Amino acid sequence: EWVAAAGPREVLLASPRSFCAGVERAIGVVERALETGPVYVRRQIVHNAHVVADLEARGAVFVEEVDEVPERATVVLAAHGVAPSLRADAARRGLAVVDATCPLVAKVHSEVRRYAGRGDTVFLIGHADHEEVVGTRGEAPGRVVVVEDAEQAERVQPADPDHVAYVMQTTLAVDEAEQVAAVLRRRFPALTAPRSDDICYATTNRQRAVRELADATDLVLVVGSANSSNSVRLVEVAEREGTPAHLVEDAAAVDLRWLAGAARIGITAGASAPPSLVDDLVAALGGLGPLTVRSTAGAAEYVRFALPKESI
Ligand code: F3S
Repeated sequence: EWVAAAGPREVLLASPRSFCAGVERAIGVVERALETGPVYVRRQIVHNAHVVADLEARGAVFVEEVDEVPERATVVLAAHGVAPSLRADAARRGLAVVDATCPLVAKVHSEVRRYAGRGDTVFLIGHADHEEVVGTRGEAPGRVVVVEDAEQAERVQPADPDHVAYVMQTTLAVDEAEQVAAVLRRRFPALTAPRSDDICYATTNRQRAVRELADATDLVLVVGSANSSNSVRLVEVAEREGTPAHLVEDAAAVDLRWLAGAARIGITAGASAPPSLVDDLVAALGGLGPLTVRSTAGAAEYVRFALPKESI
């Protein structure tokens, strides 16, 4: 296997890749909180095993639910957002809540409140079991209907077809989500759409970049954790371009058999995957044989989010 996997080969790095502004902010929130005392974090702060392990090593305590947090302690709510009922639970326990919900997820929550508040049935295009969808749905549980795919969009029956709106999970595949929205638009002419896209800039940019990467390479490696929605979508987008693609937690997860015959390897990383993991992966490939490394000429990202006021 090692012989088959030997170079020379070319590595093409997707641009942009890796951390988005929402993930950087969420990690910053935990780091800032750690400076002042013990910190509890509900669920994975972002969906990446390395990020969680790193913050754990620095003292953060990860819990499943807020009832595991000692009264009056500080709890950080993860980047994917939570249902309002959970905020109320935290308040009842007297917890100091620092909310690391990404502002672009919070935007979708406020859309749900607005549509549901005026009596609409709100179709939430997304994966029912994903934490972000669970949280967004929690804004108006009686009015939100999760729609996972085009087939479900064909079947949903709202209470009043003249009062319907839709929103999306932020990390969907742009092309797939658009197909689902198209079915809803066809079936419900009165459908209200969000004023601006719910799929976030980071998801959109990384998908565009991985498509370009897949077209120019023999194999695509996506650094990310298996429960990271946007990372899994990057694998699927690359595969839809006809290029074999694999999700890898880190360099150690690469199966050398994948590399046989792959002279050009594309590498990207999900929005929750640290850039250092990409560096490690490139270094590991360099250990197999001669390597040239370059980046695609992707869109520059200037989005930055300030830390929430509770954490400053
Ligand atoms: Fe926010 Fe998009 Fe990142 S919703 S957490 S900027 S992937």
